[in-house]
Amino acid sequence: MSRLDSFLRRLQAQRDCLNVAVAMIAKVPGPIFELGLGNGRTYDHLREACPRREIFVFERQVSAHPDCIPDAAHLLKGDVGKSLAAAQQRFAGTVALAHADLGSGNPPRDAETAAMISARLPAVMAPGGVIISDQELTLPQAEILPLPPGVQAGRYFMYLWPKTAD
Ligand SMILES: C[S@@+](CC[C@H](N)C(=O)[O-])C[C@H]1O[C@@H](n2cnc3c(N)ncnc32)[C@H](O)[C@@H]1O
Repeated sequence: MSRLDSFLRRLQAQRDCLNVAVAMIAKVPGPIFELGLGNGRTYDHLREACPRREIFVFERQVSAHPDCIPDAAHLLKGDVGKSLAAAQQRFAGTVALAHADLGSGNPPRDAETAAMISARLPAVMAPGGVIISDQELTLPQAEILPLPPGVQAGRYFMYLWPKTAD
């Protein structure tokens, strides 16, 4: 597969997973966490899809399109690990949707980031909340959700918080 095709599939997977998650949280109140602003594409998609939700964005180096930069109250600048640790109490049990797109292409670094997110997100998630990630997370208390049709296994990961009864 060409790199162009692979890039397009990644973006389609992101969009399809975000759309499914947004529908799933329709009745779950609470803010959205966007971990990794990047260009601001997925942030822009989320704010269009969820105009009445607060979206808090975590990013260490803001270089997004100027139209896609949240206001200061919704931008948690700095290392996401430190920001998530600082946010634990304020957002405990309230987050309806967390989207993590922090992949660097460096497997050891990405594994470390995935472990950190896996440790930090459970405390802030609302019951019925959804977690989407570009990296596989270790969330034993969450239910692994099927991916939307057409999204290849391993390209994106979706979890429901917490696991429904076995
Ligand atoms: C792949 S980009 C996100 C792309 C974004 N979803 C979009 O649609 O434009 C990943 C972003 O995560 C940020 N990032 C990666 N690791 C981070 C960390 N530990 N703390 C804060 N930001 C981080 C990078 O600076 C980068 O902007």
